[in-house]
Amino acid sequence: MQEKIIVLGSNGQIGTELVTMLRKIYGDDHVVACDIRRPDYDIKNSAPFEFVNVLDKEMINGIFKKYKPTQVYLLAALLSATGEQNPKLAWDLNMNGLLNVLDLALEYQVAKVYWPSSIAVFGPNSPKDNTSQYCVMDPNTVYGISKLAGERWCEYYNQKYGLDVRSIRYPGLISWKAAPGGGTTDYAIHIFHEALKKGSYQSFLSAETELPMMYMDDAIRGTIELMDAPADQISVRSSYNFSGVSFTPEVLAAEIRKHIPNFTLTYADNDPRQQIANSWPRSIDDHFAAKDWGWKPEFDLAKLTADMLNNLKKS
Ligand code: SER
Repeated sequence: MQEKIIVLGSNGQIGTELVTMLRKIYGDDHVVACDIRRPDYDIKNSAPFEFVNVLDKEMINGIFKKYKPTQVYLLAALLSATGEQNPKLAWDLNMNGLLNVLDLALEYQVAKVYWPSSIAVFGPNSPKDNTSQYCVMDPNTVYGISKLAGERWCEYYNQKYGLDVRSIRYPGLISWKAAPGGGTTDYAIHIFHEALKKGSYQSFLSAETELPMMYMDDAIRGTIELMDAPADQISVRSSYNFSGVSFTPEVLAAEIRKHIPNFTLTYADNDPRQQIANSWPRSIDDHFAAKDWGWKPEFDLAKLTADMLNNLKKS
């Protein structure tokens, strides 16, 4: 079957790299990038791009009618830190964007839908270490609340209507190609830019704040592996725990010093993102992903640090 893939939210941190990879696999014309913002590249000279607001159901309807997608990725969202600045908008975008896409996916008989969830679905009473797929989940950010509710809707559409919707709970994603989107884990990207530019960085999270993270190459590969897995192997229809590597700002700084010996890290007091980080797990148990579709990360802290610094130096 000829695939036609629509990526909604194509210009963000994940979308930028996912679209590139999908176009490599399926060909430029088979992957339609859609975003509310203009992309960096010249639209006329490249593969299909459409302006889409995921809150405008008629607009998505028009795109589905035009392209008849076999797969849809919905990446448009407000993340944890930005979401707290505008809770109602975060809820509206994260929830109604998803419901619009799920409904239209049913109507147009889209074969597979992908929607990302996050470690933000966990909360202060979730276990901190090796947090399991099924445990107490009491998110206290509007982002986490919308992701947890979204997971329940994904499972509901799968069980009630047979929609093949798949999802991953991403940890903090570390990448150099596109800027991060306003999350609590963004320090782990800014630190590389500032280390190269200034030799110093002020972290908005404290020295000992350990969080689950992953290099973008792993995240993109895992996402496509999940989407390629046979439907009967997908036992989790809410969203899969997904683990890469866990570290603190202090440990990351020590790794950066192996490349930039004089790098100095200081810490800000009372940043509101600290409270969000305190409510999230330190590490994730992802054995369902390993068992169901063979998930295995390739980038540890040393490898991701070296790769980030090499690429940022070149760019
Ligand atoms: N990186 C995201 C955030 O910090 C986690 O989903 O909001």
